[in-house]
Amino acid sequence: MKAKARAHTNIALIKYWGKADKALKLPLMSSISMTLDAFYTETEFEHDPKISESSFYLNDVKQSPAQSQRVFDYINELQKKYNLDPNENFEIHSYNHVPTSAGLASSASAFAALAACFAKSYQLDLDKTQLSRLARLGSGSATRSIFGGFVEWIKGDNDLNSYAQALNEHPDWDLHMLAVEVNTKQKKISSSKGMELAQHSNYYQDWLKQNDSEIQAMKSAISNHDFSTLGQISENSANEMHAMNLTANPGFTYFEPDTISLINLVHELRNSGIECYYTIDAGPNVKILCTLRNSKKIISAIHNLLGNVKIVNAGFGPGIEYLD
Ligand code: ADP
Ligand code: DP6
Repeated sequence: MKAKARAHTNIALIKYWGKADKALKLPLMSSISMTLDAFYTETEFEHDPKISESSFYLNDVKQSPAQSQRVFDYINELQKKYNLDPNENFEIHSYNHVPTSAGLASSASAFAALAACFAKSYQLDLDKTQLSRLARLGSGSATRSIFGGFVEWIKGDNDLNSYAQALNEHPDWDLHMLAVEVNTKQKKISSSKGMELAQHSNYYQDWLKQNDSEIQAMKSAISNHDFSTLGQISENSANEMHAMNLTANPGFTYFEPDTISLINLVHELRNSGIECYYTIDAGPNVKILCTLRNSKKIISAIHNLLGNVKIVNAGFGPGIEYLD
């Protein structure tokens, strides 16, 4: 049996950056994201007793055993969870329309797509909440990619109550995110590793305390279409996450010189009356929140600063889609 699905990436406006339970990927905080139309993963999953050896192809390239390990472990875990034959082999063909491992959320769209086609190929008949929990077992941020628009991942404290819900799947709002691809090479510190290190920051416990109030403020900003508050909370959340990295022991950063130049540019643009805000994930790439109306001016300011850097202008993307 086989199935094919497409999931879009999402970028967190309030960041998930730490686990209460590594195996179940239960987060220490709730998070809120925006699903993007411009970046996505399409995956086909087939299981069949006739397949002699399991394999994972990414963008048509067969992945080595080391590169396939995380995906194979995930499928084996799901087979066990649903009492399926663990000896049945499978073949996965996945295409990332997003740079892989560069802080542009490939793991979010990847594991959401994989969870969905796994469930469909085994006819598990899961609703979106259950799918979101299944995606979470692959990668925390994938929990949110089951839904489109604005999405909240409620942290919960066990496998049943940690899942995402749509806050507004089709926002009537011309909010855009400019993804500036400073460097799309594979990062040296994965998200999983980065957040583990950050939990050793002396400031980490204090940071967690404000999660509830940040989530409430962001939800109000979303329902009021209040761009200034949404932008400020997003920028703060990213700064806080990166402050945890700098103050971890050992401290580290995903920032590169162009990352800092872009942060300064956003401040300058804002001071000159062009309202925009940045957010940054586990990589040097910068995403700029703005209205479509201002995006042209911002794009030309970025090109003036950094030359021919690639900029992707993304709007709201949809939730999970089946392709056959
Ligand atoms: P990113 O910033 O891109 O999300 P992460 O380090 O969080 O980077 O996750 C990258 C990991 O996600 C990869 O090492 C790989 O294990 C997994 N991954 C990425 N794309 C795919 C895909 N299409 N199918 C399955 N797994 C994938
Ligand atoms: C900075 O979801 O990739 O993008 O759960 O270990 O797979 P794992 O981590 P992952 O981390 C995402 C971190 C982030 C913030 C976010 O998406 O909320």
